Amino acid sequence: MRPQDRLMELKKERNAVILAHNYQVPEIQDIADFVGDSLGLAMAAAKTTADVIVFCGVDFMAESAKILNPSKTVLHPEPKAKCPMAAMCDPAGVRMLKKDFPRADVVAYVNTSAECKAEADVCCTSSNAVKVVNSLESDLVIFIPDENLASFVQRSTDKDIIPWPGFCPTHESITVEKLNKLKDEHPGAAVVVHPECRPDVIDTADAVRSTEGMMNYVRESPKKDFIIGTEQEMLYRLRKENPGKNFYAVPGALCPTMKLITLDNVLAALESMSPEVALGPELMERARKPLQRMMDIGRGD
Ligand code: 13P
Ligand code: SF4
Repeated sequence: MRPQDRLMELKKERNAVILAHNYQVPEIQDIADFVGDSLGLAMAAAKTTADVIVFCGVDFMAESAKILNPSKTVLHPEPKAKCPMAAMCDPAGVRMLKKDFPRADVVAYVNTSAECKAEADVCCTSSNAVKVVNSLESDLVIFIPDENLASFVQRSTDKDIIPWPGFCPTHESITVEKLNKLKDEHPGAAVVVHPECRPDVIDTADAVRSTEGMMNYVRESPKKDFIIGTEQEMLYRLRKENPGKNFYAVPGALCPTMKLITLDNVLAALESMSPEVALGPELMERARKPLQRMMDIGRGD
């Protein structure tokens, strides 16, 4: 029997739903019930009626699914699939910043551990970061853990942002030089980049969007050619859903930990009902408040 067929059988038996991020390898996207960005996945996890959520993405995404729907079993098929940027921030450091700036509100990008989220007033994703920051009372904001996203938000708010010095290695590898080379090869192509990119890359882009925002932008654009400044697997869905359009990836823009989820470990997770995401009830309660506040604010792009 093909692994895909056994997966379908097990999914039915366990009453499971498979959620996958836009950076997952094509064979995972193809077996998923829902493929989307961090915000879309959190929304899908919060509202599912399935008993089991198989989360195909990195650690913080699977944790958010558990926090938002704690009565469900959440399986993360490869616990080594961790976001390196989320690992750059720690709760003790956030507490120190809060002490230094007591009147600041704390915004935690979802790419953080549950422990860091528990220190925040509200969470955000790349889709709604500007909307979330502008919804706050305070004119001073501590923003963790992505310095580039903080700098992108700073362009669209009068509030003062204190950034945490974290970054995404995948998006840091996208440079103006690489984009210019692609622009020379494909004159007239629209340049669409993720807000985790460096500020000078943001300056050269025609549009800055979350991964789902890119799907919407491309669908609505009259253009035919697009240079995509984010993780390379994004092109799989873009091509699948826009057959008449052309997409060009930035060489080297790859998130290695996203690729640790495979058909084999998804199948093994459903067979053995492990590894399961397990977080303490008190920690989940504290992290749920800022996550829920973000969900109530909704999409921004
Ligand atoms: P999105 O929320 O735009 O999908 O981004 C998540 C992420 O990890 C980008 O690197
Ligand atoms: Fe983390 Fe960057 Fe990978 Fe996104 S692409 S999961 S931010 S390392």
